[in-house]
Amino acid sequence: MPDLPKPVLFMAPMVDLSHVAYRELIRGFGGCDLFYSEMLNSRIVPVEHPQTSIYLRWAHTHDLIFQILGNDPDKISAAGTILDGFEPWGIDVNMGCWLKKVTCHGWGAALMKDIGAARQVISALRRSTQRSVSVKFRIGFQADPNYMLDFASMLQDEGVDFLVLHARTVSDGMTRKARWEYIGALKERMSIPVIGNGDITRPQDACDMMRQTGCDGVMVGRHALIKPWIFRDIKALLAGEELEDQPDLLEVIGSLHALLAEHFPADVALKRFKTASVWLAQNLSFGHYLVKQVGRTRTMNDAMACITACFDRGIC
Ligand SMILES: Cc1cc2nc3c(=O)[nH]c(=O)nc-3n(C[C@H](O)[C@H](O)[C@H](O)COP(=O)(O)O)c2cc1C
Repeated sequence: MPDLPKPVLFMAPMVDLSHVAYRELIRGFGGCDLFYSEMLNSRIVPVEHPQTSIYLRWAHTHDLIFQILGNDPDKISAAGTILDGFEPWGIDVNMGCWLKKVTCHGWGAALMKDIGAARQVISALRRSTQRSVSVKFRIGFQADPNYMLDFASMLQDEGVDFLVLHARTVSDGMTRKARWEYIGALKERMSIPVIGNGDITRPQDACDMMRQTGCDGVMVGRHALIKPWIFRDIKALLAGEELEDQPDLLEVIGSLHALLAEHFPADVALKRFKTASVWLAQNLSFGHYLVKQVGRTRTMNDAMACITACFDRGIC
């Protein structure tokens, strides 16, 4: 199993967004080191058809980490074996999703409440693959550093290769500032690499997080959607180079549109284009207007024509 580059830059797993088209878009700006898939339900993976599944049929998996969701060791093991066959860089277990529709099944962050179940899940995955096994998790249900460290030590003892900490508690949801000090505490205790995640909104934040916490790399979520060129800028900053100018946003949106049309059936492409527009439009003063207009369109062609018209009329 290859070592992680140091420092390592990851794009975060994001449902409906960390798909092949966004990954290709980010690769076009020089890319990050490793990408995450959207979370894949371990119950669904075995019934997805490898040639037609919108989640599985991509050839470029050498820099991809599949993220799986579930709490049944047998299902995790079966999903792990199937995903291993795609020769990805690694497989990650989601122990951080805080949404009720996920935790009510005992999945995602619910595993942080049940250390025994989490241990069984990770040991089942470890047995099903020789590839890198990681866990993306949160601080815990409460802001209790000792609980977080005990939980992480258990994962390390079970053979996890690296950890990604989204530095919020479950009850924080996506609110309040990420608690970077917990990333530092985790790094201090663990012997495996620790990746920090939460509130990297500009390239300087990535450098600050690594300097303040000593973490081995960073994961960027929302701001990789808003500025798909953010990794290029982080790399430049780390190398002490000048930052390039921001790219032309209409061209960026056009590239994503073309990639979605190339990789997905028309209905999925349109749905995903509308979802992506919400994030890319955050670069614009009247982005909400653009999102509303795109939301009304019925075809990919109409959606792009609508965006081009907004830019032509200068209302963005
Ligand atoms: C739209 C959206 C979807 C997400 N989906 C996932 C997911 O599938 N798996 C996961 O572990 N985290 C998921 N997350 C959480 C992100 O991976 C990340 O931990 C969080 O956004 C904090 O990082 P950021 O401040 O850089 O955005 C999602 C976040 C967003 C905004």
